[in-house]
Amino acid sequence: MAGPVPSPTETFTALGTPDGRQDPYPLYEAIRAHGNIARLKPGRLIVTGYEECARALRDPRLHVQDASSYDAAKPGWRAHSSLRAFTNSMLYSNPPDHTRLRNLVGFAFSPPRIRELRTVVEEMTDRLLDRMAGLGAGGAPVDLVAEFASRLPVAVISTMLGFPEEDQVWFRDMASAIAVATDGFSDPGALHRADAAMDDLSAYFASLVDHRRRHPADDLVTLIAATHGTEPGRLSRDELMGTLMVLLTAGFETTSFLVGHGVLLALDHPEYAQRLCSERDFADPYVEEILRYEPPVHVTSRRAAADTDLLGTPVPAGTGLVLVLAAANRDARRYADPGRFDPDRPAGQPLSFGAGAHYCLGAPLARLEAGIALPRLIRRFPDLACVEPPVYRDRWVVRGLDTLPVALGTSVVAPVARTAPSP
Ligand code: HEM
Repeated sequence: MAGPVPSPTETFTALGTPDGRQDPYPLYEAIRAHGNIARLKPGRLIVTGYEECARALRDPRLHVQDASSYDAAKPGWRAHSSLRAFTNSMLYSNPPDHTRLRNLVGFAFSPPRIRELRTVVEEMTDRLLDRMAGLGAGGAPVDLVAEFASRLPVAVISTMLGFPEEDQVWFRDMASAIAVATDGFSDPGALHRADAAMDDLSAYFASLVDHRRRHPADDLVTLIAATHGTEPGRLSRDELMGTLMVLLTAGFETTSFLVGHGVLLALDHPEYAQRLCSERDFADPYVEEILRYEPPVHVTSRRAAADTDLLGTPVPAGTGLVLVLAAANRDARRYADPGRFDPDRPAGQPLSFGAGAHYCLGAPLARLEAGIALPRLIRRFPDLACVEPPVYRDRWVVRGLDTLPVALGTSVVAPVARTAPSP
C-alpha cells in the first residue's frame, strides 16, 4: 500500500539533502502534484508551473532579494563579504537601482555586440580543443569539465573584461568558491571559503580598476571603471565591484554546466551528435533544448513588495516565492512529453534565463559559446566516450556536472574552418 503523500514542505526539505540534489526532478513532480503554486508555510509559496513562473518573473511588484530583504531574513549576513558584494550588483537590486546598474553595462552584452565575438570564441574553443587533444593523447582520460567546459566561459569573459590570460584558472577557482554564496543550502565552511575568495578577488579588481583608470584599454573593465563617480546616476565604488563580480561569476559555472550537459546528452543520443556535425543549423535548437531539459539555474526567488496575484492566486505583500525554473521547463501544459530530450520540439521559450527585468544579461553570450563549443568538440573528437560515470556537483540552485571523464578516441579530426563574423 502506498504511504502518505508527502507535503510540499516535506518534499522541499528533501531538495536540501544530497539525494534530493542528485535528482531533483521527481521531487518537483511531487510538489507539482499539490498544484502549480503550492504553500510551503504561511507567507511562503513554491511555484512549479510555467505560466505562473513566467508571470511572477515579469511582475514588477515581485522583487528580487536585496540588502533590505537579507536584513530581514538572514541576520548577520553583512559579516559575509561574498554576500555583501552581490547585493551591490544588478542581480540583487530592484528599481530604481536595478535599472541604473543594468543600463550602465547592458549595451556591452547586446546581441549585435556579442555576435562580433564569434571569431574570438571559435579561436578560444580551438585552442582548448588542441590542448585537450594533447592531454588525451594515447587514450589518457580527460576531465571534460575541468579541461574544457569550465575553461571556455572563463576565458571568454576574462578576455571581454580585460583580465590577463595567466590569471584565468585562478579566476575560475575563485569564482567557483564564491558561487556557493548564492546557493540556498551553502554550509558555513563553504561560506567562509567564499568570503576569503571574495576578499582576494576584490583586492585584485580594485588594483586592476585603478590601473585601467590611469591606462585605459579596449576592454570592459575600462568601460565600467569610467562609469564610476559620485554624481547621480553613476556607479559607486561598491557597485563597481559588485558589477565586476557578478559579470565574472554569473556566467562562468552556468555556461560550463550548459556545455557539460550538452556533451553528456550528445553521448546519450548519438543521432543528435551526428546532426551537430552535419547540420549547420542544428546547434541552435540543440542548445535551446539543453537549456529547457537540463537548465543550469534550477531556482530563483522573489518577495512581494505589494499585494499581487498569480493567475488568480492571491500573493499578499511580504510573501516569499520560490520559483522553480527547472520544473516550469517540464510543465506538461507547456511542453508535450516534457521528460523527453527532443531538440526538434517547437520553440517554447524555456525560463532557463529567467524573464522580465532581470532576464539574463549574458544569455546571448552563453548561447554563442555553447553553439560554437558543442559542434566543434564533437566534430573534432567523433569517438568521444565517457570512461567513468559523470559526477553532479552537490548543489541545487546552480546545478551541473562537477566531472565528466572522457576518452577522446582515436579519430581526432583537424580543426574546422572558422566562420565569418555575422554582419
Ligand atoms: C547558460 C548560462 C546561463 C544561465 C542558465 C543563466 C541564468 C540566469 C538567470 C536565470 C538569471 C535571472 C535570475 C533571476 O531573475 O532571479 C540570470 C541573470 C543574470 N545573468 Fe545569467 N545565466 C547564464 C549565463 C550568463 C553569462 C554568460 C553572463 C555574463 C556575463 C550572465 C550574467 C547575468 C547577469 C548580470 C544577470 C543579472 C541580470 C539582472 O539582474 O538584470 N549570465 N542569469
